[in-house]
Amino acid sequence: MEIIKWIVFVTLHSLRIRIAVATGNTSLHSILLEDYEPDARPCGHCTSPLAISVSFYMTSLLDLDELAGTMVTMGYVKLIWVDERLTWRPQDHGGVSSIFVASKRVWVPSITLGNPSLKVTDLNKDMCPVRVLYNGTIIWMPGDVFHTRCDYDIYNYPFDHQYCYLAFVAWPYLANEVMLVIQDKEIYLPFYQENGEWSLVNTSTRNRVELSMSISEFNVHLSRRSEFFVVNVILPIVLLCFLDCLVFLIPLDSGERISYSITVLLSFAVFMTLVSDNIPKTSAPMSLLCYYLFLLFAGSVLVMINVAVNISLLYREQSKPIPGILRKVVILSRKSKIDNIEKRNTKKDETMKEVDVVGEDVNGDHAIELPESSKVVFPDDLRKAKSKSALDGRGLKNVCAER
Ligand SMILES: *[C@@H]1O[C@H](CO)[C@@H](O)[C@H](O)[C@H]1NC(C)=O
Ligand SMILES: *[C@@H]1O[C@H](CO)[C@@H](O)[C@H](O)[C@H]1NC(C)=O
Ligand SMILES: *[C@@H]1O[C@H](CO)[C@@H](O)[C@H](O)[C@H]1NC(C)=O
Repeated sequence: MEIIKWIVFVTLHSLRIRIAVATGNTSLHSILLEDYEPDARPCGHCTSPLAISVSFYMTSLLDLDELAGTMVTMGYVKLIWVDERLTWRPQDHGGVSSIFVASKRVWVPSITLGNPSLKVTDLNKDMCPVRVLYNGTIIWMPGDVFHTRCDYDIYNYPFDHQYCYLAFVAWPYLANEVMLVIQDKEIYLPFYQENGEWSLVNTSTRNRVELSMSISEFNVHLSRRSEFFVVNVILPIVLLCFLDCLVFLIPLDSGERISYSITVLLSFAVFMTLVSDNIPKTSAPMSLLCYYLFLLFAGSVLVMINVAVNISLLYREQSKPIPGILRKVVILSRKSKIDNIEKRNTKKDETMKEVDVVGEDVNGDHAIELPESSKVVFPDDLRKAKSKSALDGRGLKNVCAER
């Protein structure tokens, strides 16, 4: 008996549910969609185009790929239009003022991306239901992940700003049939999640008609968060520069200069690889950072050459003369200094008398050896020149001979 009672109860209960559904929204659906032709555009015989209001709600910026030249965003598009065939009086239907209908059962515009990077897909592929208001207004909010093309300008990398956009077109319809209209000045960002690498600076919108197609454009202005790059690449490079100069502090005869400067040179090469792996391999225009890194690398190569020449001079046989070019370079670089000294010395005639005596003692290419007493009257700058004159004794000899 219990089982029979239970079966009767379940049957009656399900009947009740079915009756309630039939008298509620379902009947409204069947009335509205009975003779509805989903392929026919609303207002098919009107002279003015069907206006569709478009807004874009961006929820996140998933990826900006400079190498591939793409931007991946996630969001949904809110489309609003009026379909006069879908109207009813709420008071005739128990006060129901809006219903949901599967998007394949009513006419929806086929909206596609105008600048896709992956493939052209219709926004309607997920069959997101539409909301129909009693006065025929239809609100449809399909969402998707949008892969769009974006041209990157990496001249200022890593302090660059990028301007990318999403364009939506009502693909098969011409502008005189379906017109997309953006009324807002910017993209809506109520659910926007910040991206770790890029910050969203500004957004703007634009309506345009091109090739008799109506296009809605949503522009995003992004700036790169460069802290990561500054700490991991720029600061190490600057420190390496200082290290490179320090090579001349290492004693020449310790033989460590070569290995030190090669290490610094290789470090620059590593950073060059790191940077060029991260930016598009384009030359129009090339990143400033690449030029800068190349300059540093070239500087490091010069230091390397300098060190190699120094060492080869240090260990060459004493009997061999210094190569003519090197000698000229040294004489030229010393000449201006010595000229200065001469000018100052001519002003101090009295003290020079003693120097004349010393000058006669000077002998050939050897460094000058002065008696202890004459050092007192020797002018300061000339004494400095003397201490540096090991390389170029002849220069000083000339100075002294002219006195
Ligand atoms: C019909 O839809 C309205 C609003 O959409 C809702 O309030 C009402 O409960 C629905 N009726 C039924 C029977 O589901
Ligand atoms: C339809 O009704 C909604 C909600 O009441 C209103 O916002 C909208 O302006 C109406 N549309 C028309 C075309 O009357
Ligand atoms: C955002 O972009 C719009 C349109 O380009 C511009 O008028 C506005 O000044 C910009 N706002 C900021 C904060 O840059």
